[in-house]
Amino acid sequence: MVATSEYIVCEIKNSVLVITINRPDKLNALNKQTIEELHETLVEAENQDDIRAIILTGSGQKAFVAGADIAEFANFSVTEGKQLSSIGHFKIFNFIENFSKPIIAAVNGFALGGGLELAMACHIRVVSENAKMGLPEVSLGLIPGYGGTQRLAQLLGKGKAFEMIVTADMINAQDAYKWGLANYVTTQEELLNKCFEITNKIATKSPTAIKTAIKVINAGYNNNLNGYEVEIEEFGKAFGTKDFKEGVSAFLGKRKAEFKGE
Ligand code: COA
Repeated sequence: MVATSEYIVCEIKNSVLVITINRPDKLNALNKQTIEELHETLVEAENQDDIRAIILTGSGQKAFVAGADIAEFANFSVTEGKQLSSIGHFKIFNFIENFSKPIIAAVNGFALGGGLELAMACHIRVVSENAKMGLPEVSLGLIPGYGGTQRLAQLLGKGKAFEMIVTADMINAQDAYKWGLANYVTTQEELLNKCFEITNKIATKSPTAIKTAIKVINAGYNNNLNGYEVEIEEFGKAFGTKDFKEGVSAFLGKRKAEFKGE
């Protein structure tokens, strides 16, 4: 069962898990403990059938996540730096991208460095008007290390990604929307409602089909796979699920489908 921990607050509302990263005095920066707790929460959420979607946000009015914890890695060696990146990829960023249930980032303020990378690993981004997003790592003599060099180019195109990464510039919510980084822009007050509007739709659909859709969309971005071939394979497999039988029988019977995720 998902549970609140020191830096991660969990709340379930109508089959949607709201995860709040709760380190407001450090603008929710991702230290080692926060990464561990978030990973554990995600593992629990993956196995909890009554959770159909996740909204991920930051506590307070100022920041979603202001990046990896700079103070924590200040004296890292080359080996420790590499480890920081690879553990993060494995436990959080790739884990979220390949999660079996949709994860929506509710970006409620600064999303910088690892914070923007976190939002980009999520499947959908809803952004409040005050949000500021950027990958400022080159200002620290670093590069983005949690997938930012790859996912920013996927979402915005290579030209804008180059510009944002090499200038370290932050962009505002409207530009994020214009360039495809944000699906929607809302006021701070409406941010979670907009996310719930999306998750409420997700919650009525087939969990097995949604899990498969996530897998197949991601396959198209994996150089070792042919997305079209994965689609053919998974489309076929869907006909073997109880959700498919239920969906079709509900449609033909002119009733609402009751999906069990089987
Ligand atoms: N890691 C560790 N601590 C961080 C942090 C980070 N990424 N981002 C913010 N904090 C801490 C600050 O050190 C400060 O702590 P303190 O009160 O103990 O001194 C606190 O959060 C508040 O931040 P502060 O800088 O005082 O707020 P601000 O409104 O003046 O500026 C930012 C906000 C986001 C512009 C600024 O905090 C910033 O540039 N953060 C770093 C962003 C970054 O480079 N991220 C990429 C990391 S790889």
